[in-house]
Formats: sequence, structure tokens, C-alpha cells
Amino acid sequence: MAGLDKNIWVIANWKSNKTIKEALEWIDCVGPKLPKQGLKVVVCPTFVCLEEVKKAILVGNFPLMVGSQDLSPRILKDVVDLAILGHSERRENFAETDATVAAKAKQALAHHIIPLVCVQSADTPLPQGVNLIAYEPIFAIGTGNPDIPQNASKVSASLKNKYGHLEVLYGGSVTHTNVRSFVKQENINGVLVGKASLEGEEFLAIVKECSK
Ligand code: PGA
Repeated sequence: MAGLDKNIWVIANWKSNKTIKEALEWIDCVGPKLPKQGLKVVVCPTFVCLEEVKKAILVGNFPLMVGSQDLSPRILKDVVDLAILGHSERRENFAETDATVAAKAKQALAHHIIPLVCVQSADTPLPQGVNLIAYEPIFAIGTGNPDIPQNASKVSASLKNKYGHLEVLYGGSVTHTNVRSFVKQENINGVLVGKASLEGEEFLAIVKECSK
């Protein structure tokens, strides 16, 4: 965000959505319109789409990083820049624990993949060496009921106090109409966007709000 001395991350988390064709259509729509500097924009497709998405980004030379929604480091290290770890849906549906997340974070770091660790509150323990966190309260995920920006900022501040240098993103029902209220908070370094990232134009509107 102009005027603020911080990185802003805008991360699209597609979860289980999109065929390869739909994924490539999204890249065609979003890639050419992304700002060349000032933001760190990442797309996290399904495993099936990762390679094609990566190729399309390279061919178009778009300012877009690629992330995975989990980690398999030896396979992914040539394709992804970042891996989302410990998303609440993985914690719930795949019994992922803090210990599993810590082990995966270690593997990610060893393979030069940025671990983005999702936490549900300031009490979730953070693995060593992790600098990028997404605070995603369960009640806000996919519900259309986001947290209050000031509260998200408070949680972020308390994580930063506890762990030192961190970048903390907010995730949970982010749209182009509310994203600015989050990224303008001093302690919030960007957003992790689920549903609203699926439609290219809506995602671009979010990116635009973050570039203002
Ligand atoms: P949502 O999902 O934006 O659809 O609430 C966020 C997430 O699960 O990362």
C-alpha cells in the first residue's frame, strides 16, 4: 500500500477449485494486469494445476509467485515459491497437528520454499524459522463474516511480540470491499484470499485496493 513501509502480500488460495483450463483462463485474465512492483502476489492452485500454472506464468513473465496448499518438498521445489501449511481445513480434515506443521515447515525451509503457516489465534505455536503467518479465525473462513480489522491487527501484534520478526497476513472472507480495512492496519502485512480469489476480476479488484 502506497505510503506504508511494509510488504503487502496478496495470496489466492483456490483450495480444490478449477480445472487446468479454468486455471489457465484465470492466469490469462489476471497475469497481464498485475502491478509490476509494490506487491507480492501469489497463486496457490490445486496440485493438478501447479505445473501448467507455473509454465503459463513463466511464458507470460507475470509478477506472480506460485504456492502449493501443502508440501511435498522434493517434488515441488522446482515449481513453487511458497507452501501454505496448517490451514484450518487441513488441521480439521487431515488431522494435521502443530507437530506435523512444524516438521513440514522445516522441510520447506530446507528446500528454499517459503512456509506460510496458518494459525487460528495468537495461541497456536509457531514453528522455528517461520516468518510468514496467516491469522485465519475459523468463524471467518468461507462464511462471509470476516474478523474485525482492529482485532486481526491485535492478534498480529501479539504474535509479533511473542516471536519477533514476522509478517502476518489476515485470511477469512476477504473481498475487494473489505481488504483495505485490513491492509491499512499497521500490523497486517497482506491477505490470504479463498473464495474471492477464484474469479479473476474480483481478485484483480483486491490487488488494486492493496496497491492504492
Ligand atoms: P475465504 O477463505 O476467503 O473463502 O474465507 C480463506 C482461506 O481459507 O484461506
